[in-house]
Amino acid sequence: MAEGAKSMDATVLTVVGARPQFVKAAVVSKALASCAGIKEIIVHTGQHYDAAMSQVFFDELDIPAPQLNLGAGSGSHGAQTAQILIGLEEAIIRLKPDIVLVYGDTNSTLAAALASAKLNVPLAHVEAGLRSFDRSMPEEINRYITDHLSQLLFAPSDAAVENLAREGIAGPHIVRTGDVMIDASMKFKEISDRRSNICARLGVDKGSYALATVHRASNVDDEIALSVIVQALSELSQTLPVVLPLHPRTRARLRCDFAPGVKVIEPVGYLDMCQLEAHAELVVTDSGGVQKEAFFYGVPCVTLRSQTEWGELVAGGFNRLAPPVNARGIVSACLEALRSIPDFAGASDLLGCGDSAAAIARELAHWISRRHG
Ligand code: UD1
Ligand code: UDP
Repeated sequence: MAEGAKSMDATVLTVVGARPQFVKAAVVSKALASCAGIKEIIVHTGQHYDAAMSQVFFDELDIPAPQLNLGAGSGSHGAQTAQILIGLEEAIIRLKPDIVLVYGDTNSTLAAALASAKLNVPLAHVEAGLRSFDRSMPEEINRYITDHLSQLLFAPSDAAVENLAREGIAGPHIVRTGDVMIDASMKFKEISDRRSNICARLGVDKGSYALATVHRASNVDDEIALSVIVQALSELSQTLPVVLPLHPRTRARLRCDFAPGVKVIEPVGYLDMCQLEAHAELVVTDSGGVQKEAFFYGVPCVTLRSQTEWGELVAGGFNRLAPPVNARGIVSACLEALRSIPDFAGASDLLGCGDSAAAIARELAHWISRRHG
């Protein structure tokens, strides 16, 4: 049992709402469960609500059922954030947590940070300090504000710690924990090996296809950028079949068809995703999480953006940036990535080695016990 806040009964209120947050919470919730004296309450904001975007993660990853689902659903940034803020304010007042725990950079994260700060309830942020330095990204605003409102900041990388320091956030309340998504990959890959046969189901040969995901607002809400991506993946599929589990945001925006070599499928559960990533020859994505998972599985990655919060992966040659400006540029980056494979094994613990969730739980327990005197 992890060292904990033994003589107290403290409540951590975890707020999740979007797909990557379920994956991150899966490993941290498990670690919190072994801290004596800490009770975790999970609140789901309802930002993601399709079964394939939400329930499948709770089922497969054995995440405790949320005590409350705010049912916020989709909407403009203002409407969605406001809806979650109203629900969370009421929940925090009623549940009286000792600390609120948030993940990443979504509108659910921002709303939880605002609700906690206004109620003077301490806030802890997992994935603190990440920056794209692009304020036109909604996520950049969300993570910046959340970091500046947090009392406890869990930074996944050295670069994240440095970013915080540049903004005047430094001290013992910043903890470099490594990245919890590496923990999740380590923990669930073996289960996925046993339970998922997605490559066979899709009829793709292991090691001989590209896995693509696309959902970033700047890529899919911009008609030209999206058509460049459709063209690039279609061209790539002449070299390598492409599997594309399509985010509902992207499906709603598509105005043209992919070439037949692109297998467009519904979003998959995490266990299927582990297989698709681990056996891909190449990953092409604009997802934050998928960039890191490609690295974990030793698969070269092309990121369809002009910048990334995970610059160490680009610096190490594991990932390359190819913004959707023209299809040729993306295809060239993909072919180059397939040709020059870097030494993944030599850098395997760059983002942590699977003990990040335990470190977060331990720090939370220490923080709570210090506060309780
Ligand atoms: C959100 C996050 C993004 C994160 C992504 C993970 C914000 C601002 N963005 O983007 O940082 O990378 O989640 O996937 O918080 N939709 C459905 N069913 C669902 C969920 C969404 O159909 O279950 C559709 C709706 O048309 C909705 C659109 O997807 O309008 C966008 O959903 P939203 O949650 O607003 O943003 P994401 O693009 O998912
Ligand atoms: N993921 C999944 N099924 C999919 C696409 C993604 O399980 O069809 C997982 C992926 O492995 C990663 C997380 O969802 O753990 C990333 O979510 P997403 O790309 O939506 O968000 P981001 O990380 O960009 O915020």
